[in-house]
Amino acid sequence: MDYITLDYSNAAPFFGNFEMGFLQDIINSIHTKLLKDSDDEKGSAGWVQLPEQYNNKEYEKIKLEAASVRENSDVLLVIGIGGSYLGTRAGIELLNHSFQNCLTQETRLAPQVFYVGTNLSSTYISDLIDLIKDKDFSINVVSKSGSSLETAIGFRIFKKLLIEKYGEEEAKSRIYLTTDNQKGTLNAAAMEEGYKTFGIPENIGGRFSVLTSVGLFPMAVSGICIDQVLEGANTAKMELDVRDIYRNPAYQYAAVRNILYNKGKTIEILASFEPKFHYFSEWWKQLFAESEGKDGLGIFPTAAMYSTDLHSIGQYIQEGRRDLFETIIQIEKSEKELAMETEVKNHDGLNYLSGKTISFINEKALQGTMEAHMKGDVPNLVIKVPEICPFSFGYLVYFFQFSCAISSHILGVNPFNQPGVEAYKKSMYSLLGQPQKLSESIVNPKAITY
Ligand code: PA5
Repeated sequence: MDYITLDYSNAAPFFGNFEMGFLQDIINSIHTKLLKDSDDEKGSAGWVQLPEQYNNKEYEKIKLEAASVRENSDVLLVIGIGGSYLGTRAGIELLNHSFQNCLTQETRLAPQVFYVGTNLSSTYISDLIDLIKDKDFSINVVSKSGSSLETAIGFRIFKKLLIEKYGEEEAKSRIYLTTDNQKGTLNAAAMEEGYKTFGIPENIGGRFSVLTSVGLFPMAVSGICIDQVLEGANTAKMELDVRDIYRNPAYQYAAVRNILYNKGKTIEILASFEPKFHYFSEWWKQLFAESEGKDGLGIFPTAAMYSTDLHSIGQYIQEGRRDLFETIIQIEKSEKELAMETEVKNHDGLNYLSGKTISFINEKALQGTMEAHMKGDVPNLVIKVPEICPFSFGYLVYFFQFSCAISSHILGVNPFNQPGVEAYKKSMYSLLGQPQKLSESIVNPKAITY
């Protein structure tokens, strides 16, 4: 049995079983092509084989440098945007304490992790400076191209803060650059200044890069066992290699999404009853939106966090336009347990729940929501995950990446480009009077030493 299961019984009434069967051969050939393309070092499918082919030397370096940051820093500042940020934060928030950054150092036993480069708010950046200026910190700048303006500005500001605090030399030892193996402005900077670098393989794009040094280094700094993350991803790779659509949950997920899309269900809500999934949902949104939303096509991916959203957009989901379907991530075993106790006075009338755990009540909320939404004509799929742990994170990342690539190809779009993202950049650069676009083609292989 697979580690995760996909239950689409609440979506099946919306289509005929034969419609899945029709997609078997198409998906099979997409799978074959992805495997073939993964060998192409100049292609975009390097992530397919990544979990088992990870560069050992680089992997050991990640662990070593993470240990050194854990030793000398109270804070790790991750500077990146989009695929160079979301997957990292997804892992760190899912796998640590819900209030990790608020815990004391003694309880946390790891640096706090903060993020910058995700916006151009001077208030946000100034507040962050206030927060970390008196703490020992290191920075990890993550940019495959090296040319994202938000990231570059963040780097400039916090590099200056590091230099003011530690002087040029020590500042350099606290700067880690994660960038393309060969190209980009960050390689040139690393070469000249002697910063430590981690490489992103050329054939792995931003939103498919969380299982490279992009995500692994900051996750290791925050204390997450990255061996288990990769083991989960590798297990997913093996389990999802089954060529039968009725036995492969990734095939099924990709197929059902497209079948529903063709029936007018053009919006997908990724829902979870576990708040720690918030940034995982953000990563998932980006993965599917940037991969599928092009050429006038694509399911619009959005996310909901329950119960809170049942008391806000829940009304719309239940009774608004009927162009939605829902994918719910269900965690079968909660990390922690709390039970309802009996109160003598029972003012709130809740004694009927005495002895029940909060997770049991949460599960009933999930079942009730599915039932209600189904009655409201919202098909739902459930992805059942045994528990939240590094292994399941790695597994889910691989599952969604693989499903997303298949789903995009069924839709008929190239999952690995994002031409639309350039549009705002072009206008912004021109409004800012940039003399010429930051070079993306500085080839400097010597900057990477492992
Ligand atoms: O998925 C992608 O390719 C994008 O979201 C990029 O990750 C994002 O635009 C950041 O790019 P870069 O890493 O080059 O700064």
